[in-house]
Amino acid sequence: MRFLSKTEGSRLMALLSIQGDIYVYFWLLYCKIYSAIIWLFGNHCRGTDKVRSVITAGSGVQSSGGIHRVRTRRRRPQQHRSKHIVALARRPSLRRIVMAPGASAAHAMMEDKDKTLHGALAAVSMHTRRISQFAPLLIVLVGLPARGKSQLAHRLARHLNWNGESTKVFDCSHYRRRHMALYGSHDIFRADNQQGSAIRRQSAREAVQDAVLCLKDGHSVAIFDGTNITREQRQELNEYCLNEMGFRILFIECVCEDQELLERNIIEILHYSADYKDMSEEEAVDDLRKKLEHYMRQYEPIDAGVEDISFVRVENMGETVTAHKVAGQKESGILGYLSGMRALPQTLYFTRHGESEYNVLGRIGGDASLSARGQIYAHALAEHMNPLVGRESFSVWTSELRRTKQTAADIRAPKRAVRALNELDAGICEGLTYEEMQERFPQEFAWRDQDKLRYRYPWGESYIDIMTRLRPVLSALEDEHNVIVVGHQAVLRCMLGYFLDAKLDELPYMHVPLHTIVKLTSYGYKYKVEMIKMPIECVDTHRMQPKNCSITRTTADALVTVPSHYDTLPSNLWQNSAEAQL
Ligand SMILES: *[C@@H]1O[C@H](CO)[C@@H](O)[C@H](O)[C@H]1NC(C)=O
Ligand SMILES: *[C@@H]1O[C@H](CO)[C@@H](O)[C@H](O)[C@H]1NC(C)=O
Repeated sequence: MRFLSKTEGSRLMALLSIQGDIYVYFWLLYCKIYSAIIWLFGNHCRGTDKVRSVITAGSGVQSSGGIHRVRTRRRRPQQHRSKHIVALARRPSLRRIVMAPGASAAHAMMEDKDKTLHGALAAVSMHTRRISQFAPLLIVLVGLPARGKSQLAHRLARHLNWNGESTKVFDCSHYRRRHMALYGSHDIFRADNQQGSAIRRQSAREAVQDAVLCLKDGHSVAIFDGTNITREQRQELNEYCLNEMGFRILFIECVCEDQELLERNIIEILHYSADYKDMSEEEAVDDLRKKLEHYMRQYEPIDAGVEDISFVRVENMGETVTAHKVAGQKESGILGYLSGMRALPQTLYFTRHGESEYNVLGRIGGDASLSARGQIYAHALAEHMNPLVGRESFSVWTSELRRTKQTAADIRAPKRAVRALNELDAGICEGLTYEEMQERFPQEFAWRDQDKLRYRYPWGESYIDIMTRLRPVLSALEDEHNVIVVGHQAVLRCMLGYFLDAKLDELPYMHVPLHTIVKLTSYGYKYKVEMIKMPIECVDTHRMQPKNCSITRTTADALVTVPSHYDTLPSNLWQNSAEAQL
């Protein structure tokens, strides 16, 4: 045996270590492939059910070959549901649609992914396919009075507007009332009045015209909320939109078989409808009863066997959602929203965290703890809420930051920390005071004042960003009752803005003071606001838009609306005592 020379030895060592590396490399590769196979296999097995439910719930509209139904969860006693099913089976027209050949075809398609694709493409109405995905969309609501059409229209509009689709609702009854004002008599809109019927038809025509004009003007969705849309009118509208205007069109039929819901809707109409403002209660009830009977005699439900239109049927305000020949991006979003929609009465509570140590110093962002006064607010909040919490079931949603968790600590209800509720991320300006921002980043500060809604902090967020991340929270919240949201200024501005239909540009300047509980109670599609101010002192953190937003403005101009905080108050001695004495 020959000894290796020194260089040969090191070369061999190098070779060995390389080979070692390669060996390790192959081993790792093997592991990766193996785990990938395991993952894929596992996912596939688990995934089938999930995929199916997703198809049924939202994007299933892509398989728009026939009818399929989405039965959604609902917080209701079981007995109501079975009653409802019986009612449903007894109604022949509905049963025919549910049992229509299209329905079973849709299910068969879902079994086989390949077939789904071909089947769907072949079955989508040729009309609808010709129209671009980006064409404006006209939504036509169909259904008897008191079936929740207006509520659905406005909720949907709110949701779409928030998601960047500019949407407007055209309510037939507004037009009718305008005509009525000319005649100045209530008899005109009584159901048995011939003249009234003519006025109603005229109002419907005008509402449709305005809806079409608004779509031509660049709105992306218009919702036409009428009552008496007959089969013939539907056909006409459908053809007019698709062939003449090149708009997409979707019909939404509201059906309500649930007596309890129906009664609630009727009570709401009697309370809030402009029609019954000046009437006595008996008169109003009598009138509405007559009106309902009259409409019911003439109502023609949408029949998938006869009518070649895209439609969604919403039963009992979102309990069951049925889609027929629905295709397109906007429409799938709408279908998803409708299948998740509940319209149960709700009460929601919002509050900012108690005053934090950063609030006192006028600093933004950060993850500071509560100040002493903030802690007093936390106790006061718990004292206010706990008696209510004892009576009904509540839940508390906080952000992931310390100050909201500390504020909610004493409330005796289950708590959940939601990341999407975190305060706006101020990026490079986190932890600065406005004075420091002006000193270090005067240009950024001015740009923010110019357009606070869209301005995004470098490495941080804008209001638009928060709106986007709040979408799932807001959808979830629309379905909740008795939730206490403990949040932050910017986030609550957006959330309250959503429920109160604030204009987007006003959102960043909405007044949401510290140490105040904001109580929202739903009525119809609107919300009543109550501000419950706790008598605990705190700093003001609301900074108005200054007059001069130019980037060349002076420091004084930039800081003119900054609210005072402790280290700038002349009477405050605890931080700058040395300066104060000078
Ligand atoms: C509904 O429309 C039909 C056809 O346009 C009409 O005959 C009927 O009177 C209308 N009903 C009401 C209540 O307006
Ligand atoms: C803002 O301030 C700048 C510089 O001080 C001044 O030139 C400009 O005219 C001011 N603009 C307004 C709108 O006051």
